[in-house]
Amino acid sequence: MKQGKATAVASPNMALVKYWGKRNDKLILPYNSSLSMTLGGFATKTTVEFGDYNNDTIIINDEQLKKDEKDIVGHLERIRHMAGIKEKAKVVSESNFPISSGLASSASGLAALTLAATRAAGLTMNERELTILTRLGSGSACRSICEGFVIWHKGERNNGSDSYAETVAKKNHWKDFTMITAVISEAKKKIGSRAGMAQSVATCPFYKNWIKSSEEDLSIIKKGILEKNFTAVGSCAENNCLKMHSVMMTTKPPLIYWLPATLDIIRNVIIWRDEGLESYFTIDAGQHVNVICLDRDAKKMERSLQEISDVTKTTISKPGDGAKIVNDNLF
Ligand code: DP6
Repeated sequence: MKQGKATAVASPNMALVKYWGKRNDKLILPYNSSLSMTLGGFATKTTVEFGDYNNDTIIINDEQLKKDEKDIVGHLERIRHMAGIKEKAKVVSESNFPISSGLASSASGLAALTLAATRAAGLTMNERELTILTRLGSGSACRSICEGFVIWHKGERNNGSDSYAETVAKKNHWKDFTMITAVISEAKKKIGSRAGMAQSVATCPFYKNWIKSSEEDLSIIKKGILEKNFTAVGSCAENNCLKMHSVMMTTKPPLIYWLPATLDIIRNVIIWRDEGLESYFTIDAGQHVNVICLDRDAKKMERSLQEISDVTKTTISKPGDGAKIVNDNLF
């Protein structure tokens, strides 16, 4: 094989309609469709080279990876198989946001890895195919391939060929839409999303209602985004997050990701909203809170969040770009 090297960048994403549970664990096929915003300004850059290496070497933020939660080597193996190559890879990846920023680096990381590795392996794939391949590495990561506001269709088929992500509105459609991530001081997450959602599917008595309700939320939020109806999108996203956390809390054993400061922010956002500062919250499988507001209120909102004790950092993001090939290789 001609040695191939390529570099890609991708941003993290935050779901407004959450994904929590798989109908097929191996193919990472979800029970419900989800909808996210790709977070502009934050990116993971990844260079992949297939060549005369004895082993796959993976270096993330200057550290060589030993144990890999999302199975990067398995993902490289999948790509080698598709391309019909055997060469091992060197992968170097860097994020411009810290692991402790509350943003999921695994989504941007897997999206950038998939794009760079397919290109380096000589595969030509369209965006839909790339989202399907990324999904096999980690579900929510498939949404990071696409720009702006993104739907991941759950699909119906058993082989996953119709479970892909696509943009519903590009980043410039709604520049005012703002997400502020408030990081709440370190407490190591006990149970990761993959194990947590499997437990919810198996044991939560409300799981079926969650799926039904999420599909309804998806149409409300999609319509709200297209019409730029902030109240419709914000209130439905907040309610969807609370439903996911209700599922988590009623899983056996319970999954309680919140810390006292998480609840502090929730209560404050509701108070601020009643006082006229329109904002809503959404929370993933962790303690950090993402506050959704419009651009005109972002600075004020950020200052108010910084005053809450145990909030260690805040970041502001807008709808951003999908994954892209770039020219400046990391090695
Ligand atoms: C709470 O995508 O990390 O962030 O598919 O098993 O890799 P796997 O799970 P992952 O789960 C993300 C769950 C979530 C909600 C969301 O992003 O939609």
